[in-house]
Amino acid sequence: MYHVLSCDQFSRADLEGIFRLTDNIRAQPRAFRTALAGKIVATVFYEPSTRTRLSFEAAVLRLGGTVISTENAKEMSSAIKGESLPDTIRVIGGYCDAIVLRHPDIRSAEDAARVSQVPVLNAGSGSGEHPTQAVLDVYTIYQYKQKIDGLKVAVLGDLLFGRTVHSLVKLLALYEDITIYGLSHDVLSLPEDYSAYLEARGIRYIPCRSLPEIPPEVDVLYHTRTQTERFANTDLPIEEFVIDKKALDYFSPHTILMHPLPRRNEIAPDVDGDRRAVFFAQSHYGMYVRMSLLHSILKQDSEG
Ligand code: CP
Repeated sequence: MYHVLSCDQFSRADLEGIFRLTDNIRAQPRAFRTALAGKIVATVFYEPSTRTRLSFEAAVLRLGGTVISTENAKEMSSAIKGESLPDTIRVIGGYCDAIVLRHPDIRSAEDAARVSQVPVLNAGSGSGEHPTQAVLDVYTIYQYKQKIDGLKVAVLGDLLFGRTVHSLVKLLALYEDITIYGLSHDVLSLPEDYSAYLEARGIRYIPCRSLPEIPPEVDVLYHTRTQTERFANTDLPIEEFVIDKKALDYFSPHTILMHPLPRRNEIAPDVDGDRRAVFFAQSHYGMYVRMSLLHSILKQDSEG
């Protein structure tokens, strides 16, 4: 692994390796605290972020590396003066050993990788993909279910613009006997290229328009925020399918409730104390998964 651009690039064996290393890092973090000594990672974010940027930065620091950062590259980098993304990446790549990039363009990670002298990690490319989020999502599912094969997973909310869903369904497609339910308003349905991707890999994908169409015994509910910042057409429906305690109690005691966060109203705070609500654990695992990814990429880089 050199760049992390899309979930297309992962095999099941890749994920197993990343998960094993994540488990090791969590079990003995002190053993990894100088792993990236002397390495510099640049976090370059043209869109807002809490979890992705800070968990990547914490991951670098916990591995003994150093971070350089532009948290609002859209306004505070030379993009505001008209510099192109490829020029910016060419320059930043001369200062650091890896670039973590969030950008509104779907093709941004690939465009950056094409000109970069150092590995590029896609931290969210518009309404396209968010591959490191999906890796941590599948890791979280594995922590709670001890398997991925045979699971029934419901993805809810904005399946059209929701990049975390796009990446997650691609990773789930690596496993056997997966059923995915997609609950959204009609106009926010999963794009056809993703449903075709699933069909081509033998994954059952069942679109739903109301909560009771999801079977109560579903293993995972993966809710998402409506991405209103991506709506050019303000007539699109923004009201969410709300999961509150009553809605969650329709599901099995073994169903876990996930969310990439941030949430708005789609998950009510009254579920936060329910042991099935695992979204804060999910975001915490994200830091360890990102440590594992950075370790794999940058150790390989210095040894190779
Ligand atoms: N899940 C996620 O990408 O969160 P941030 O936008 O806060 O990074």
